[in-house]
Amino acid sequence: MMKKAYSILLILCLLIGQSSCDQKETISKGSDGMVVTAHFLASEVGADILKQGGNAFDAAVAVQFALAVVYPRAGNIAGGGFAVIRTADGKYNTLDFREKAPLAAYENMYVDSSGNALTNLGQKGHLAVGVPGSVDGMCELHKKYGSIQWEKLLQPAIDFAGNGIKLTELEANKLNDYRERILTQNSGKKEIRYVKDTLFLKGDILLQPELKETLKRIQLDEREGFYGGKTAELLISEIQNGNGIITNEDLKNYKAVWREALVGKYRDCKIISMPPPSSGGIALIQLLKGAEKFELRNYGFASMEHFHIMTELERRVYADRATWLGDPDFYDVPTSRLISDVYLDERFSDISIDKKSDSQEIKAGEVNVIESFETTHFSIADKAGNAIAITTTLNGNYGCKVVVDGAGFLLNNEMDDFSIKPGVPNQFGLVGGMANAIQPEKRMLSSMTPTIVEKDGELRMVLGTPGGSTIITSVFQNIINAMEFEMTPQECVNAPRIHSQWLPDEIYIEPNAIDNVTRERLEKMGHVIIDMSKIGMMANIFVQENGDVIGCADTIRHKDSKAIGY
Ligand code: GLY
Repeated sequence: MMKKAYSILLILCLLIGQSSCDQKETISKGSDGMVVTAHFLASEVGADILKQGGNAFDAAVAVQFALAVVYPRAGNIAGGGFAVIRTADGKYNTLDFREKAPLAAYENMYVDSSGNALTNLGQKGHLAVGVPGSVDGMCELHKKYGSIQWEKLLQPAIDFAGNGIKLTELEANKLNDYRERILTQNSGKKEIRYVKDTLFLKGDILLQPELKETLKRIQLDEREGFYGGKTAELLISEIQNGNGIITNEDLKNYKAVWREALVGKYRDCKIISMPPPSSGGIALIQLLKGAEKFELRNYGFASMEHFHIMTELERRVYADRATWLGDPDFYDVPTSRLISDVYLDERFSDISIDKKSDSQEIKAGEVNVIESFETTHFSIADKAGNAIAITTTLNGNYGCKVVVDGAGFLLNNEMDDFSIKPGVPNQFGLVGGMANAIQPEKRMLSSMTPTIVEKDGELRMVLGTPGGSTIITSVFQNIINAMEFEMTPQECVNAPRIHSQWLPDEIYIEPNAIDNVTRERLEKMGHVIIDMSKIGMMANIFVQENGDVIGCADTIRHKDSKAIGY
């Protein structure tokens, strides 16, 4: 069954192919500021805010709201995310605006009386929704670091929603792909803007008048414009009509949290990343320390040894993720031990350069195919030296596919990021246990890895990507491409990527990632290789030693993305 799914996936990958894989210039250079996002309209909004004298944090707020309109499959106001911040004076901070389980949630809410996991309920429809964090997150970010008026930051999104945006080919196709699923979850509703009588075409105008009104309420009343008043009324009524469990009390209680940044050392760089409830920072630092220990730079890029060692490191790191990581407000995550040299020396000590280990021996489990890779990341730096990396998500494409009737926004399906039953995989094939079990008001574990790299006290990289479980390994590869293989910014982003995650015991590879000889050598060692059309969509800023600021969008994998510098 699983084998069949993989074969279909493989054929699809070959059909979709990588027409996108020609090496394209995606760079923008600037000394006064840089914005890189998944959609050129959102990048323009961010750059405009910087030009008007706003700082990187103002621009981030405006971009988050703009993406909710121009990139509805992952941009959001009813999802959540994480921000990693480095201020111009060299201080670090992180903001956790991850969704939370509702008060009425409980550990076995997706398990039936016979003990069967009801995976679907955690992924589709109203019961899959976590209490949204994005609007409170943006209010907190603006309160602490913003420099221009809140109203101004909402206006571009309001204009896009009211005047309409021209659909790109990618967006039109994506909406068409999800048409049936969106219809199923919204039957009986009058105005669902994400479907129409015929299929969408490139150039069609997408109007979102209900979303415009919601954004205006947020513009006027900030946090209260979403978690109270008419928006809350519409949201709760939507949830109740669909037998969901989020209440007004959940909305009132939601608070984004400032958390101390997770800082690790790798070679002569500082890695500043997201602590739990994201697994991203811990896993990234573990992998980078492993790359340093095994001197990856001594093996050629895309050599058998390069991919074999990465895979072996990833197996162990994702097994740790499944066992030890969860919301630190509910579970005592052993963060410092997990990233300590002593622990990692021991953890990686059984990796052999010429022998594959068996994931089942590392730890038992059972998983399914990885299904969806949506989320979105943006990176912004301003002329003063402030930088922010934000990864934000509805989880799946268009979240749980439910549009709040009368309010025009999509709801997340983030509850699937909990471990709904020990050993049962989520949509990304990730498993977990107690650390990530459902509890009321707990945050679900994430893989989002917004990251900043510093060298000798200077900003060097601001980076991140969507991609579910592949986020961590894509960020990892971009850093080692720069630091171990000394690639240019453009090469770092363009280079083909691979991914492995303990379970399934497989390596996913992009087209052209390896030559046939390397593939055969890896397969002879016992590695199972699965072709994928693409992995991740980086949105990176690189600051060169000479001070040049280079923005790199991942246009070979997603042609709507754009870096704008000035
Ligand atoms: N929803 C994907 C993640 O947070 O990792």
